[in-house]
Amino acid sequence: MKHISKYFTGVKANDDINIELRQGEVLALLGENGAGKTTLMNILFGIYKADSGEILINGEKAHISSPHDALKYGVGMVQQHFTLVPSFTTAENIVLGLKELGFIPKTKNVESRIEELGKRYGLPVNPRAKVWTLSVGEKQRIEILKLLYTGAKILILDEPTAVLTPQEAEALFEAVRKMVADGASVIFISHKLDEVMEVSDRVTVLRSGKVVGTANTAEITKNDLARMMVGREVILDIEKPEVEIGKKVLEINNLKVKNDKGLIAVNGISLEIRAGEVLGIAGVAGNGQRELAEAVYGLRRAESGKVLLNGKDITNLSVSRRIREGIAYIPEDRKETATCPDLSVANNLFLKNTITRLVNSTHYFVDRKKIMEKASELIESYSIMTPSPKMPVKLLSGGNIQKVVLARELSTSPSLIIASHPTRGLDIGAMEFVYRTLLEQKKRGAAILLLAGELYEIFRLSDRVAVIYEGEIAGYAPPDPAYIEEIGLMMGGSKKAGEAR
Ligand SMILES: Nc1ncnc2c1ncn2[C@@H]1O[C@H](COP(=O)(O)OP(=O)(O)OP(=O)(O)O)[C@@H](O)[C@H]1O
Ligand SMILES: [Mg+2]
Repeated sequence: MKHISKYFTGVKANDDINIELRQGEVLALLGENGAGKTTLMNILFGIYKADSGEILINGEKAHISSPHDALKYGVGMVQQHFTLVPSFTTAENIVLGLKELGFIPKTKNVESRIEELGKRYGLPVNPRAKVWTLSVGEKQRIEILKLLYTGAKILILDEPTAVLTPQEAEALFEAVRKMVADGASVIFISHKLDEVMEVSDRVTVLRSGKVVGTANTAEITKNDLARMMVGREVILDIEKPEVEIGKKVLEINNLKVKNDKGLIAVNGISLEIRAGEVLGIAGVAGNGQRELAEAVYGLRRAESGKVLLNGKDITNLSVSRRIREGIAYIPEDRKETATCPDLSVANNLFLKNTITRLVNSTHYFVDRKKIMEKASELIESYSIMTPSPKMPVKLLSGGNIQKVVLARELSTSPSLIIASHPTRGLDIGAMEFVYRTLLEQKKRGAAILLLAGELYEIFRLSDRVAVIYEGEIAGYAPPDPAYIEEIGLMMGGSKKAGEAR
């Protein structure tokens, strides 16, 4: 891609970018939230048209003005947010993509070919399953198989591991290595430096729409990358403050909750969290974490059992009553649950204002001027990259959408914070900021229920770690790497009830 520039109102998303992808390599694309990575890839995949610059494929000028064109050149992309039709099966979704290209294959043939491809690349999927019943890991495998099915030779993966468990990420890397061995070239976007070091051959770093530099992965260190990305040193080892643990804030007694399929997902969980305490829940995704969080927040009904907040029974209260009682929630899904994508940044920041009263409005009128003022303050303090508070949230970069959610949830003074993957999709500078903010809330006396996929995040923030397995607490452990093995065993269901309570 040569001299690529792309302007949006108020932003230079790509500013004279030159990048090069060689046959059979994995090129990692790195950069802060809003640096322009997705925009650049959207140009290569034909979703956006560059304002200037050109794309050359095998030395020839490529004319790409739609994903359809891109696929003809063998360019395929797995987008940052999935594009599958939930009510269709795996195979039907793939057929849908192929129809676009002018093939009309028989669903039966597609099914067997998907199984074959899945086996070859170690990406197992069930071709006859409806997409809505699948986990995010499975959905992503379908997106990748969709590309492989079309014979794409240049594969763009935009933050593919943000939603995966470490085991799923490992399997994805294996598949990437096979693709490359088969002659494909891969562009891989990630904020996780360990992954970039593991899977890429070369790295190109972007900052504010410009290329900062390109390097051979073997010749650089993680710290070099961090510095290139952020332009300064990043300290991720933030010390936990000494905080006096106070009164009981959250108490859950023998809670049972069903999942969307009507099966028991939380199977009799009891736990408590005190003021100033962070309880980290470790577990493989899909073991009841989501249902637990939603039941505490009131999005999901409790089949039986009790939830108490500051001693008060809230089991059957509405969500708005629970917010008023002081619960904040950072859901795992920022586009479907956490924000209204078409509303402005300001409106998303103050969605709950009728309840939280962050801006003093009267009962009947919203004080728009004050909301704009306060929004600008939050945008500033959370470094949300947006040209204006009036920008629809869906036009922000992935990480900046996450920051809007964090700003809304953490700017009040909740007594309980449910944080589900709070740093998902954030660059390392923003991650550092979120850790500090959560720890400040802890210092202030908030109780925090932390659900995260990665143990290092849980260790860094938690006072105690509970392991969830098949909807039950398998045991507790201290947040100490010395206990990794014990925690791992409990996560896999092969050990019950850790001693260290
Ligand atoms: N359709 C659009 N309209 C207006 N602005 C846009 C649009 N798409 C992207 N932008 C802006 O362009 C900039 C670059 O965004 P981009 O999504 O490329 O960032 P990114 O590097 O992928 O970040 P992240 O790591 O957070 O995903 C951001 O400021 C974003 O708000
Ligand atoms: Mg992006």
